[in-house]
Amino acid sequence: MKIADFCKRTFLFSACALGLATADVSARQLPAHHFEVGDKTFLLDGEPFVVKAAEVHYTRIPRPYWEHRIRMCKALGMNTICIYIFWNIHEQEEGKFDFSGDKDIAEFCRLAQKNGMYVIVRPGPYVCAEWEMGGLPWWLLRKTDIRLRERDPYFMERVGIFEKEVARQLKPLTLSQGGPILMVQVENEYGSYGEDKAYVGEVRDLLRKVGFDDVLLFQCDWSSNFTKNGLDDLLWTMNFGTGANVQEQFKKLRELRPTAPLMCSEYWSGWFDGWGRGHETRKASAMVAGLREMLDNHISFSLYMTHGGTSFGHWAGANSPGFKPDCTSYDYDAPIDETGCATEKYHELRAMLSEYNDGESLPEIPAPMPQITVPAVTFTEAAPLFDNLPKPVSLTAAKGYDDSFPAGASILPMEYFGQGFGSILYSADLPAFTGAASLKLEDVHDYARIFIDKKLVGTLYRGNNEQSLLLPAHPEGGRLEILVEGMGRINFGRAIKDYKGITGKVTLTTHTDAGSDSVSELRGWEVVLLPSEYSFAKKKKYKAFNAAAPTSDEPYRKAGYYRATFHLDSTGDTHLDMRTWGKGFVWVNGHNLGRFWEVGPQQTLFLPGCWLKKGRNEIIVLDIIGPAKAEVSGLDKAINNMLREQRPAVHRAKGETLRLDSTAVLMAGEFASGNGWQEVAFPRLVRARYLCLEALDNHEGSSAAAMAECYVLGADGKRLSREPWRIFYADSEDTQSGNNTADKVFDLQESTYWSTQKNVAFPHHIVIDLGAVTTISAFQYLPRMEANAPGAIRRYRIYTSETPFVK
Ligand code: GLA
Ligand code: CA
Repeated sequence: MKIADFCKRTFLFSACALGLATADVSARQLPAHHFEVGDKTFLLDGEPFVVKAAEVHYTRIPRPYWEHRIRMCKALGMNTICIYIFWNIHEQEEGKFDFSGDKDIAEFCRLAQKNGMYVIVRPGPYVCAEWEMGGLPWWLLRKTDIRLRERDPYFMERVGIFEKEVARQLKPLTLSQGGPILMVQVENEYGSYGEDKAYVGEVRDLLRKVGFDDVLLFQCDWSSNFTKNGLDDLLWTMNFGTGANVQEQFKKLRELRPTAPLMCSEYWSGWFDGWGRGHETRKASAMVAGLREMLDNHISFSLYMTHGGTSFGHWAGANSPGFKPDCTSYDYDAPIDETGCATEKYHELRAMLSEYNDGESLPEIPAPMPQITVPAVTFTEAAPLFDNLPKPVSLTAAKGYDDSFPAGASILPMEYFGQGFGSILYSADLPAFTGAASLKLEDVHDYARIFIDKKLVGTLYRGNNEQSLLLPAHPEGGRLEILVEGMGRINFGRAIKDYKGITGKVTLTTHTDAGSDSVSELRGWEVVLLPSEYSFAKKKKYKAFNAAAPTSDEPYRKAGYYRATFHLDSTGDTHLDMRTWGKGFVWVNGHNLGRFWEVGPQQTLFLPGCWLKKGRNEIIVLDIIGPAKAEVSGLDKAINNMLREQRPAVHRAKGETLRLDSTAVLMAGEFASGNGWQEVAFPRLVRARYLCLEALDNHEGSSAAAMAECYVLGADGKRLSREPWRIFYADSEDTQSGNNTADKVFDLQESTYWSTQKNVAFPHHIVIDLGAVTTISAFQYLPRMEANAPGAIRRYRIYTSETPFVK
């Protein structure tokens, strides 16, 4: 169908074949426009159709730029836009929905249609997407016994209400109603979360009930797990990334559903960045080759992300296992960069896609948005955080879901005080102690600065698994203050139920003269709430200060709100250089640009020109550490690749070598070649905390060993939780050609992997600390996903131990 027709005509639709058998086109009276499943193909108006979708997120693009980005996707050679619907953006307070302004999803879809693009809608309820709590609203956590993404009555009730509102917005825009919406997704990669088919079935039924009953429904998952939750009457699509072996990815699906159309519903163009981790990129040539292969095989795709954009405000999520918060930039190394500009990747992909455009030429590439630089702005006003605290709330003011105080609690996370985002300050009297003592926060979510009598005594960061701080003697006691900043809630895996603040208790372990330890729980907490809203930052009592004063006096590296104004003759996109600041948020003219953090790799914040004004502009920075220099300028380029983290990324200290001589080999064997999961059973059940995989060679004859994921099975044959896992040792980790550190073997992502450095010889060793001594029965190994599985280990030995290996 010609795009012009698509834009002009009103769509008619009759019940199309949602089943997966070959559509009997001849036997039915077909309406003018319909999208359905045919024999190994999608059919649009009865004609074979390949979906070439561009994933973009309306929440990550300022509304004035929506159409520009859609046109960029169109000019790239795409015919569809794929979007998630982010529940927590639309229902920020329980029961209060907002689909206006930059949340107007119907308008976004209309803009797509206006520009000749179809739309795929993925309304969750869970979306993952490196987005706060995977799109779920934080207030669900007020009901502490809630089971998220399961058939929990309250969860399902709220999902129903939300999806009804979504349908109210988007049902009129499905193909049958004359709109651009081709397909709607049910849940998101549920196979990597659970196996509750009945839950997925309920979400499907609910979507139909609210109005998505005449549009093609589908489920996306990984090739390794889609059968766990695949429903018989839904279309199944696969997610995998650049470089993956495309044929292998569809192998199982082809076996199970030989006539179904194939679609890669998320083909990852790049990858997301996390704070304190290396910047991620993926090769353009590999991305383009994979897409070409799909097109040559009539396989539909959605390129995730085609334009990543920015996780403005407090909306960036965090990954798990462990706690790995995502950066603000969601550039994703996508073809269209964070600012909406065409990259080299874009041009390479466009050249390829132009060969698959039915002989028609692609539209011109839209001009980029104007760019500006902003000369250094010096901050002349500050409101120090600790001089501007709001009134404390008493701990007993905290409420559970049922309005009662949680019995027995000595300290509580911010959700109990009705706060979803920002920081929380806890203070209590510290008893007197002589000799050193250890302060333990169980657990701190996510980053704490700890003060005694207003003096900083240390920081604890969940991402580094830090819980305890050694305190020098305080023979007179003191006032303890713990400022805890909540970062994005975990968006992937079972850990999405992620409370912020101090989630358990705080204890002090002192040492008695007799040499024994005495542990006491600290009580009597006072709580101050520090939300991350502009209205809160704005009304602080700002006072003049001299940012240029060359002394260590206040407010140098002092937590606080900093305010300045600057004048512009013309507006345009720019990147705020945050390299002299610590950690916090920036608001420009009331828009929250997102989080910055000195650790990097992201050091600038994207400031869209559409949020700037000619003339006077206001900037407020909240810095919970404090700036080294209270100054900011606008650069013409983003700095997304400058890591300052002190902690080494690799898991082998200088001069360290693993000594295995005193450990017996548990078993030795050979892994098979090729892609896909393999399992080796141990000769006997064994008790172990440390497991060492020694790779002796690989299948390709090179010197590299690689592993994408692995699991260890317990005595019952079930996979152990990898939540407590750490890498104890890896002999070599390739951080040159990618972010291929050893922790990638249990990051729940099949497309990320551990790989040794080039030219480091076998044998290679990786030692996993399982967190506790456990009875184990088998090891599961997933080689890299690329064709021929580069670095696929052949001969191996496994060693186990209850105590740490010697190194
Ligand atoms: C999965 C999810 C997406 C996103 C990607 C990684 O495929 O479905 O939402 O999180 O991983 O970027
Ligand atoms: Ca991985």
